[in-house]
Amino acid sequence: MTKTLVIVAHPDLENSRINAAWIDALSGLPGVTVHDLYEKYPSRVFDVEFEQGLVDEHDRIVLQFPFQWYSCPPLLKQWLDEVFTSGWAYGPNGHALEGRTLAIAVSTWSREADYQRDSRYGRSIEDLTSPFEVTALRVGMRYQPGFFLHSSGDYSDSELSENARQYQQFILEPY
Ligand SMILES: Cc1cc2nc3c(=O)[nH]c(=O)nc-3n(C[C@H](O)[C@H](O)[C@H](O)COP(=O)(O)O)c2cc1C
Repeated sequence: MTKTLVIVAHPDLENSRINAAWIDALSGLPGVTVHDLYEKYPSRVFDVEFEQGLVDEHDRIVLQFPFQWYSCPPLLKQWLDEVFTSGWAYGPNGHALEGRTLAIAVSTWSREADYQRDSRYGRSIEDLTSPFEVTALRVGMRYQPGFFLHSSGDYSDSELSENARQYQQFILEPY
């Protein structure tokens, strides 16, 4: 069974609707570990050895976050900077991530139509999230196309339940 680590980075999960529903949908799924960075590290000082150990135990890493200023929340960027170290993730003897899979799951307020090259932002969501793909390739990981929810403010409760079911499938599908 594929073991999947879902790294959640939401600075205000108490007031989250989408990411909170996604976390609920993953609860108890076999082979899935949910790891909430803002909950575990209120001081924002990582236990790097623990984080690397957690990654070591999983085949696939999914980074789940709300889009913030066309990027990820700062603690996730810090996690990448401090956990993907030289000698572990890259550089001499840095092979820990090779052969694993990386994916992202991102919610946005703006509409899907805004995230098109010929539209409001002049860039697709894949363009804007390409640093995650390049990071994965740089450390020898495979990059799985992401799971995106746009127009987060427009989702009814039943639409969100259906979307959360799709997210479950995305997480459980072998890749
Ligand atoms: C500081 C901040 C920056 C944001 N930047 C963006 C953005 O660049 N693009 C966008 O579509 N939504 C943006 N949003 C909206 C959030 O992405 C949206 O509210 C969130 O994905 C909804 O998920 P949640 O219910 O889990 O919080 C931003 C929200 C905040 C608080």
